[in-house]
Amino acid sequence: MTKFTNPGLMPTNRRNILRGGALAGAAAFAAAIPAGANTTPRRLPVPNLRAPAPHVVKVQAEAIAAATPADLSGMERVRQELVAPPFAPVHEQVATGAPKIVEIEMITEERLMVVDEDTGASIWALTYNGSVPGPLIIVHEGDYVELTLRNPVESMMEHNIDFHASTGALGGGALTHIYPGEETVLRWKATKAGCFTYHCAPGGAMIPYHVCHGMNGAIMVLPRDGLKDGAGNPLRYDSIAYMGEQDYYLPRDENGDFIQYATAGEDYADSLDAMRRLTPTHSVFNGAVGAITGENALRFNVGETVLMVHNSCNMDSRPHLIGGHGDYVWETSFDVAPLISMETWFVRGGSAMAAMYTFEQPGVYAYVNHNLIIASLLGATAHFIVDGPWDNALMEQVVAPHAMET
Ligand code: CU
Repeated sequence: MTKFTNPGLMPTNRRNILRGGALAGAAAFAAAIPAGANTTPRRLPVPNLRAPAPHVVKVQAEAIAAATPADLSGMERVRQELVAPPFAPVHEQVATGAPKIVEIEMITEERLMVVDEDTGASIWALTYNGSVPGPLIIVHEGDYVELTLRNPVESMMEHNIDFHASTGALGGGALTHIYPGEETVLRWKATKAGCFTYHCAPGGAMIPYHVCHGMNGAIMVLPRDGLKDGAGNPLRYDSIAYMGEQDYYLPRDENGDFIQYATAGEDYADSLDAMRRLTPTHSVFNGAVGAITGENALRFNVGETVLMVHNSCNMDSRPHLIGGHGDYVWETSFDVAPLISMETWFVRGGSAMAAMYTFEQPGVYAYVNHNLIIASLLGATAHFIVDGPWDNALMEQVVAPHAMET
């Protein structure tokens, strides 16, 4: 059966996925060619119908070649060890000293992940450093991010990275295409303060394919003097809860069961069919149903202030903390006054944002997408367990439930 994954451009089916991937701008499946397993696969000689015109690419290459080298002499270099979500790397809330060059490393790892243990739904996730979302990066405005990006030789696909926080060359996407067995280094200046998404963008239909297989994450660019309320008073947090909301479009077989695939990329044509319906089968925090619930719930104490960093690379979301609030909410930039005392806030698909809250009562809080269908049926629920003394002045069960007299 022939399916048109690029309407008007070319037919594809699962058997000619090699060609479809290349035409979509990815050359992803060149690695699947058995000849020369240790040879770095190169882009197949097929025109990329979605790529910029050659003269545009040439103009950009000439501009880059003619540019004056940036003088970064004297800048201190520091290394940031990235950690898996929902945690944040060691960082300063207020920058000390002058802007720095912050060195980070990321590996493009393709790995089979269980999305929902109850149904057996799984995905060959495309990741940065093995997690969905990719790790949270934290720098200060004026710092440089210097990323070493590596694509293991055993990968099936080409990857790159587009930082929404950066300026130029498709967010760095045009300068970071790496095939299996390749690495690259990109340095860019963080000129805007706020939370920003980053994601893989190999080209054409491979862009949503990679993003909807988990290949996205967030960077937080703090003001050098830290976060502030609308009156200029400093705001500090005790901890960070970093959550990526991931929509998956997992193909089903004729019985309605989720299809298992043997390798990354094998689901390409089926996935595009599922994605085209714009109806996710799952929308989860941190890669899988229950990744931040039950035993995986995050723990806090009464009086503790948490900064909830929420990344949503593809779909809009409206987070709500059931039983709590957003005391201060930065939906956009850290350079504008935060929204205050919010009940539900907004994550524009294709962005990351932050909300700050100080816990006042113990108990279980549910952090959900308050599209409650998505929260309950598709998986977008996280749990925070808070310890500490109960405050009857805030809430009290005056009369316990009991049968009414009739
Ligand atoms: Cu990718």
